[in-house]
Amino acid sequence: MSSQKRPDGSGGQGVAATRSAATRSGATRTRFDIEQGLAAVRDFLPCPTPEAWVAAAAREIDVLLLDHANCERKAAATAMSLLFRYERVTGLPERMSRLAREELRHYEQVLAILAARRVALRPVSASRYAGGLRDLVRSSEPGRLLDLLLCGALVEARSCERFAALLPVLGPKLSRFYQRLLASEARHFEDYLELADSVACAAEVAQRLVVFKEREAELITTPDPQFRFHSGVPARERARSLRGRT
Ligand SMILES: [Fe+2]
Ligand SMILES: [Fe+2]
Repeated sequence: MSSQKRPDGSGGQGVAATRSAATRSGATRTRFDIEQGLAAVRDFLPCPTPEAWVAAAAREIDVLLLDHANCERKAAATAMSLLFRYERVTGLPERMSRLAREELRHYEQVLAILAARRVALRPVSASRYAGGLRDLVRSSEPGRLLDLLLCGALVEARSCERFAALLPVLGPKLSRFYQRLLASEARHFEDYLELADSVACAAEVAQRLVVFKEREAELITTPDPQFRFHSGVPARERARSLRGRT
């Protein structure tokens, strides 16, 4: 990947610079590595998480955790699905297999936290986020694979950025947990983006990123009636801030 600014406006340098850090084991990852990975993630995303979402998350920790468990389970399923469909793509099976295992491990960890908090598992409806991105995925190959990989990169990057945004409003135990997950999600983002770079030319990657980032920003910054891990601006918070202005 070039060290120039990507044509879609994000910096390629951060991702490339953190590649060596990304391949290190979690045990040797330093705080500096994590900061560098997080900087690359923030550089890649089209917008930061709105403060109103963080405020809602601080009040709705149990819903956040229930939906987070769903997200980890779905992330593993997505990786497995790519593994089955695109086993012949160089580098994909190895990365997706490792990613699926890590996501299932995260799922188990969230389940343990829910149990410790005595929160019973219950169905939580999906947010509009993943479906909103998936709607843009092309139906025919080879465009479909590129689009799925870019969706994966955006979802992982947003998860990583949200873990970091949550740290100041969580208690010490949850904060430590999310700090650990943050490093994994930064690496998953890099895995997806590097695979995307390997299956299409730079111009096509950049062109599709513009499309997906525009939708992602819309999903994150517009009012959302439902609070979830990847939801937009909570509609209730928005109404409250508008009342405060009058
Ligand atoms: Fe995860
Ligand atoms: Fe992940």
